[in-house]
Amino acid sequence: MKVLATRRYPGPAFEELDDVEVAPLERVTAPQDDIEALIVANEALPLDLLPSLRLIANFGVGYDRIDLAACTARGIAVTNTPGVLDAATADLAFALMLAARRRVVEGDLLVRAHEWRGSWADSFLGEELSGSTLGIVGFGRIGQAVARRARGFDLRVLYTRRTRAESDLGEYRDLDDLLRQSDVVTIHAPRTPETEGLIDARRLGLLRDGACIVNTARGEIVDEEALVRELVSGRIRAGLDVFAHEPQVPESLLDLPNVVLTPHLGSATRQAREAMTRLVVDNILAYERGEALPTQVAY
Ligand code: 8YV
Repeated sequence: MKVLATRRYPGPAFEELDDVEVAPLERVTAPQDDIEALIVANEALPLDLLPSLRLIANFGVGYDRIDLAACTARGIAVTNTPGVLDAATADLAFALMLAARRRVVEGDLLVRAHEWRGSWADSFLGEELSGSTLGIVGFGRIGQAVARRARGFDLRVLYTRRTRAESDLGEYRDLDDLLRQSDVVTIHAPRTPETEGLIDARRLGLLRDGACIVNTARGEIVDEEALVRELVSGRIRAGLDVFAHEPQVPESLLDLPNVVLTPHLGSATRQAREAMTRLVVDNILAYERGEALPTQVAY
């Protein structure tokens, strides 16, 4: 099966593909009728130029930029990489919470600028994470991995999800109550038509003064312009790993001390990324053997 991969994906499993061409999708400008499988990272696809395509193996759990309806109509199966990046993403959410609450990046910049004059009793005070209330928006695998870590930080956990279900990892709240009652809010929902713009200007206004919002899911889930306004006003803090127009980041965030910015690093550990490649390749090999695909996305 001839595979087109949009880059060399990390880890030894990639070497198991025996007929793979590595090229970005922008290079596909004319019909290529030998390509049967595609490895992409949540990218928009030129389906019309790939008439023989049978399988799209997405390197990532989120596949919101892949048009599932169009794929299904053409008989193209789509797979993703759930499960193997939960720990990496949950860890990064904590890194952002801690960095934002304890002013880690601000402190780092001060030291590098040779401006550190000593550790005084009243300098660089942040807010303790321990003892605060954490609101988790989206309570699937990653949200629950965050809740498990929260126990070690002595956090009270509130969560919200599409369908209400009891959990011993936290207390269910509807989204508005969760936003009102949390000191830190962290987003772990997929981007869908229901979640796009879910945290709009009105809902951002429900956050407590000094609250911190962390997003390692998708930038589009929050109204980015409204979020920027809240951050510029200095009323809240944030840790942002994802943005509405990646890799563009709103210019007005760049000089703000109350926001920590990372470049979509959620799954960026060697362990997670190699396991993601393993799953991608397992799906392709299963397809070649005519077996059930391990992680097929249902439309
Ligand atoms: C990216 C992600 O796919 O899994 C997801 O949904 O957003 C990430 O894992 C990854 O950064 C590769 O671009």
